[in-house]
Amino acid sequence: MAKMEVKTSLLDNMIGVGDMVLLEPLNEETVINNLKKRFDHNEIYTYIGSVVISVNPYRSLPIYSPEKVEDYRNRNFYELSPHIFALSDEAYRSLRDQDKDQCILITGESGAGKTEASKLVMSYVAAVCGKGAEVNQVKEQLLQSNPVLEAFGNAKTVRNDNSSRFGKYMDIEFDFKGDPLGGVISNYLLEKSRVVKQPRGERNFHVFYQLLSGASEELLNKLKLERDFSRYNYLSLDSAKVNGVDDAANFRTVRNAMQIVGFMDHEVESVLEVVAAVLKLGNIEFKPESRVNGLDESKIKDKNELKEICELTGIDQSVLERAFSFRTVEAKQEKVSTTLNVAQAYYARDALAKNLYSRLFSWLVNRINESIKAQTKVRKKVMGVLDIYGFEIFEDNSFEQFIINYCNEKLQQIFIELTLKEEQEEYIREDIEWTHIEYFNNAIICDLIENNTNGILAMLDEECLRPGTVTDETFLEKLNQVCATHQHFESRMSKCSRFLNDTSLPHSCFRIQHYAGKVLYQVEGFVDKNNDLLYRDLSQAMWKAGHALIKSLFPEGNPAKINLKRPPTAGSQFKASVATLMKNLQTKNPNYIRCIKPNDKKAAHIFNEGLVCHQVRYLGLLENVRVRRAGYAFRQAYEPCLERYKMLCKQTWPHWKGPARAGVEVLFNELEIPVEEYSFGRSKIFIRNPRTLFKLEDLRKQRLEDLATLIQKIYRGWKCRTHFLLMRKSQIVIAAWYRRYAQQKRYQQIKSSTLVIQSYIRGWKARKILRELKHQKRCEEAATTIAAYWHGTQARRELKRLKEEARRKHAVAVIWAYWLGLKVRREYRKFFRANAGKKIYEFTLQRIVQNYFLEMKNKVPSLSPIDKNWPSRPYLFLDSAHKELKRIFHLWRCKKYRDQFTDQQKLIYEEKLEASELFKDKKALYPSSVGQPFQGPYLEINKNPKYKKLKDAIEEKIIIAEVVNKINRANGKSTSRIFLLTNNNLLLADQKSGQIKSEVPLVDVTKVSMSSQNDGFFAVHLKEGSEAASKGDFLFSSDHLIEMATKLYRTTLSQTKQKLNIEISDEFLVQFRQDKVCVKFIQGNQKNGSVPTCKRKNNRLLEVAVP
Ligand SMILES: Nc1ncnc2c1ncn2[C@@H]1O[C@H](COP(=O)(O)OP(=O)(O)OP(=O)(O)O)[C@@H](O)[C@H]1O
Ligand SMILES: [Mg+2]
Repeated sequence: MAKMEVKTSLLDNMIGVGDMVLLEPLNEETVINNLKKRFDHNEIYTYIGSVVISVNPYRSLPIYSPEKVEDYRNRNFYELSPHIFALSDEAYRSLRDQDKDQCILITGESGAGKTEASKLVMSYVAAVCGKGAEVNQVKEQLLQSNPVLEAFGNAKTVRNDNSSRFGKYMDIEFDFKGDPLGGVISNYLLEKSRVVKQPRGERNFHVFYQLLSGASEELLNKLKLERDFSRYNYLSLDSAKVNGVDDAANFRTVRNAMQIVGFMDHEVESVLEVVAAVLKLGNIEFKPESRVNGLDESKIKDKNELKEICELTGIDQSVLERAFSFRTVEAKQEKVSTTLNVAQAYYARDALAKNLYSRLFSWLVNRINESIKAQTKVRKKVMGVLDIYGFEIFEDNSFEQFIINYCNEKLQQIFIELTLKEEQEEYIREDIEWTHIEYFNNAIICDLIENNTNGILAMLDEECLRPGTVTDETFLEKLNQVCATHQHFESRMSKCSRFLNDTSLPHSCFRIQHYAGKVLYQVEGFVDKNNDLLYRDLSQAMWKAGHALIKSLFPEGNPAKINLKRPPTAGSQFKASVATLMKNLQTKNPNYIRCIKPNDKKAAHIFNEGLVCHQVRYLGLLENVRVRRAGYAFRQAYEPCLERYKMLCKQTWPHWKGPARAGVEVLFNELEIPVEEYSFGRSKIFIRNPRTLFKLEDLRKQRLEDLATLIQKIYRGWKCRTHFLLMRKSQIVIAAWYRRYAQQKRYQQIKSSTLVIQSYIRGWKARKILRELKHQKRCEEAATTIAAYWHGTQARRELKRLKEEARRKHAVAVIWAYWLGLKVRREYRKFFRANAGKKIYEFTLQRIVQNYFLEMKNKVPSLSPIDKNWPSRPYLFLDSAHKELKRIFHLWRCKKYRDQFTDQQKLIYEEKLEASELFKDKKALYPSSVGQPFQGPYLEINKNPKYKKLKDAIEEKIIIAEVVNKINRANGKSTSRIFLLTNNNLLLADQKSGQIKSEVPLVDVTKVSMSSQNDGFFAVHLKEGSEAASKGDFLFSSDHLIEMATKLYRTTLSQTKQKLNIEISDEFLVQFRQDKVCVKFIQGNQKNGSVPTCKRKNNRLLEVAVP
């Protein structure tokens, strides 16, 4: 979005006055108050016309941002609040657009912010001028020359931690488009005395400290240096560290800057070697040594340092040593060598150090110039930036202050000249009549100093060159003679009687009334400093150095080019360079930045009025304002003027159609401003007095308020009206909508009411019809009901009548039948009475029996002999027949069942039957045996090969083969035996071997005894006297007692035709050899589970406990 064009003016929102030309009344106090007021509000810049006054804020303000650069870019000088950027922009634009070379002169006392200001100007110009890789490199080189020069040329002083100890003028060159091409730097009078001695609280040049702090160990070794500052006599120790300054980091910055500027590595190295040599020179010390002629000669105390210096610089040690001990004076082809005493040796040493350093500095400036030199031959536009020491008034002012103040006088001179010239030119340009104005012109002071015949500098030179004894006093005497009558020269010893009794003027001093104040100069040292002597032996020794840089720094040491002429004095050199500078500046359009230091403490927010007052005075700011206001205090082009004040006159407000000048004329006439207060130029209106301008401003302010009220009024009216119209329109719309809504609602209401009424009427009508219909229906129903009742009554009556009739008929019939029965019975009684009853009875009985049998036929139960079902008896009289029938049927079905059996099955059942006969209800064991089929040979001897022998021994059929327990008659314990029953014998065999143990013919078996209980014990009694009976009877126990006993019984019966006696008793006797033992069965305890146990109680008793 394009930035909106806002017409602003310096006059808007002013704190104090932005331009002191407008100060009313104008005096020192108002000037200082104005500066203070603005300073307190962070407005550090103030104008005097086109001059910028800058008060050092001693803190970083947010007013140098890229946004600010943009704000001030391409804006009119007076458009925004005063700023150094406005001045830079103005200068840059008139350079670029109007092809006018510019110079920016920055003055002010030490610490006032000159160097910072010069850097701000450079950075602003760099930011707004052209861009591109090449251009950027040039810019970068120009900007980076600052850190290099600051490292070598700046030092910490009591006034400023980064005080420039040299004057600097830099020409920045541009092409026709305004792109930077390069630059040229000129330096003025480096304060070289600082190299060898620094006042208390101050430091030597930064580079020494930076080198020692920032260099690597390797570099230090190479330069034969030690990191410890205290090792060097030339470095003051009490303030070696500066708060907030990192020397080591700065050393890196400087080396980096040197690289950007274009220094070769070997060049940087050489420079550092020279710096190291200067430092080490300070450590050379001398001692006196008496000579034959009685004079003292100086000797170097410790030659180690000298040796190292010589190694560093490539100078022959003996040459340098000699140069510190002798001085050769050449006069008229004659060389005279004199020895130096200790003081002279020190003087020589320091002079060498100072010269070496100051020449190195000049070499650096030249080297930088070489790098930043514009590379083309095209015509260049130039912007010069002068950052030079400001006016200095110390307690002790010496040659340096004199030179500096002279320079400032020259700058003031040029300022006056150029300002007046500019004013005059503008007046001519604008066709305004020039009226002479009174102001102080300092040309006379400049003349006092620089006049070639009787100027102070000329006289100093004269003294220096004069043969014979020359001292500072002789110089002062000369001054007293020559300048006595000069208005601005004051000296106690001068011929002028005014100062004879002036005690503030010491005898060894002279005072000059500078434009900025009176300064008292100590004459001591003037001659020496002006001479700036370096013994030729030393410069020759330097020239002999192997170190290329050092050699080049001392060209006068070349014996081939020996020049007997004295080198120009410092004063004349300076005068010449100032003259060149002035000439240079005169060709350019000057822009002034005058820096003011608000306090001595380097602190923010403190505004020391006394200090500022002093600076205001010597900067000649009042003079400045006066000169600026010489004719007319304020001028402005017609257009902006008309634009600003057009609201003050009806004809010009709101638009003036004609040319701006005519508009302004009308405006001023209308406002009745006295004609002598203003003049019309070609393009500008000139206002003589600030009062007039302020009156205009006040009127404008008042009018603006009125206009604002008017605008407010109209706006409010418009706003209310629009609001009203909107409300009305809205009201109509709302009303219309409401009416529609109301009508709709009413219609809806009527419609619904109509519907309600309609429905009521319809309901009512319907109910009426319904009532009628219901009535009609009831009538009909009533008729039907009545008819029905009537018919019912009729029918019932008829039914009653018929029933009556039927009853009567029935009665008649019954009576008839009875009567007939009676009649018949009476007739036939004689035929039935005798056997009818018997016959009926028999018949009935017959029928019942018949029925009984027929029914029984169907009810007969199943043919299973064990089926207990039998149909119930129907009549009691059939009871016996029924039971008989049941018996017959059972027998029949048993027969039927038996008929199915094979012979073998028959045999089995026969056996079972036999068992039943023998044991049923006698032996408790019997019932459990009924279900078990009799198997006989349980042990299959045939199949088991173990019993082959046994089998072979028996030829008969085996009826039983079973393992039994044979009870040992001695102790009641049992042994397993195979029990074999054949047709004729009973055999016992060993279970394991199958060997026959006993064989008893069945004829010898007399009896079998057993208990009545549920046990398997049985005894086999043998015939007394038989062979088998020799061992006694057998007592066995077997799981198949019933079967065994039965089979034994049957076999004995079939073989012997005698019934075997089976005794069932719980106590029986058994023959054991000779004894008879009683076997007694008792109900035993359950200890051994369900197995009966046998125990020999005594000789006569064997007890079997049956569980
Ligand atoms: N515009 C500024 N904004 C912030 N600080 C400033 C500004 N100008 C100056 N200073 C501060 O004041 C100090 C001194 O400024 P500067 O070195 O420019 O003084 P000078 O006038 O060049 O002094 P000298 O004559 O001793 O060289 C700076 O180091 C800086 O801290
Ligand atoms: Mg400076």
